[in-house]
Amino acid sequence: MMKIKMRVFCWVLSLFCAIRTEGFAVRGPAMPLIVQLGASVTLPCSVDTPLPLLELEVQWMREDSGSLVHLFQEGESRPESQSPAYSGRADFLSEEISKGNFSLLLRNVTTEDKGLYKCVVHTVHESNETKVKIDIERLVVTGADLPISAYAGQDVILNCSVDTHVPLKELEVEWIKTNGEILVLLFSEGENRPESQHERFRGRAEFFSEEIPKGNFSLKLRDVKTEDKGEFMCKVHTDRESVNAPAWLQGLGK
Ligand SMILES: *[C@@H]1O[C@H](CO)[C@@H](O)[C@H](O)[C@H]1NC(C)=O
Ligand SMILES: *[C@@H]1O[C@H](CO)[C@@H](O)[C@H](O)[C@H]1NC(C)=O
Ligand SMILES: *[C@@H]1O[C@H](CO)[C@@H](O)[C@H](O)[C@H]1NC(C)=O
Ligand SMILES: *[C@@H]1O[C@H](CO)[C@@H](O)[C@H](O)[C@H]1NC(C)=O
Ligand SMILES: *[C@@H]1O[C@H](CO)[C@@H](O)[C@H](O)[C@H]1NC(C)=O
Repeated sequence: MMKIKMRVFCWVLSLFCAIRTEGFAVRGPAMPLIVQLGASVTLPCSVDTPLPLLELEVQWMREDSGSLVHLFQEGESRPESQSPAYSGRADFLSEEISKGNFSLLLRNVTTEDKGLYKCVVHTVHESNETKVKIDIERLVVTGADLPISAYAGQDVILNCSVDTHVPLKELEVEWIKTNGEILVLLFSEGENRPESQHERFRGRAEFFSEEIPKGNFSLKLRDVKTEDKGEFMCKVHTDRESVNAPAWLQGLGK
């Protein structure tokens, strides 16, 4: 009976009631958070209007395993209920909770922290939640497993694949002939840079441009010469890291 009356009342005062009945929306980040190993990260979770602290319960949990990352209940944070993996590493920003900001600071990030989290906010009447995805920044470069054998005059492909979260534009990839540190090919600021290539390789070495967005920075070397024999290095740099992978060219008889 109460409910029906309330509905009619709401229908009449629809604007007022829309605000009342929609309650609060919990906001999180629009995109996955990309974190370096060992670093700290703040997992955003907030509501626009502060909620009464004593009626409030905020659960941070792993969506995948269900384990409890942190809990705020009855006006206090409850570190004793945290799963051991997060004990001492995850904290609310205590001054922020009264402002409706339930973001969580996670320190010393490990590979196991990668995954999906959720921040569930309950009041006596309602609950709402947001999800936060954490990815671990990584740069993995794979070269050629085996030496490539070729005859002089043949064309060869030296593999180099790059797996990273860093956008292409922020990636620099160099192919170097190790002996003599000669620049064979350069990809920088999102583009192939043939002008910086050493003359020995000019017009003979190239990337597969259409493969680059897939992280395939393999080197296509045409018309190989006897002096090309030996080690090549695929060197990949981001702002923070550099990783190399070698490839060998052998044979080169007539
Ligand atoms: C959270 O609240 C928003 C806005 O009221 C709503 O659109 C959304 O469906 C709610 N999400 C959950 C999980 O309840
Ligand atoms: C929550 O608090 C943190 C730390 O002070 C701040 O960086 C973040 O912007 C706050 N979020 C909101 C939605 O106010
Ligand atoms: C961070 O984690 C590593 C590996 O678990 C540990 O050896 C190190 O002591 C931790 N550092 C801090 C500041 O907690
Ligand atoms: C180069 O990569 C391709 C695709 O992954 C693979 O099939 C091929 O065996 C690789 N070649 C060498 C020499 O590692
Ligand atoms: C890169 O692309 C070329 C051309 O499609 C292909 O031959 C090569 O196997 C690819 N390498 C890797 C590592 O995927």
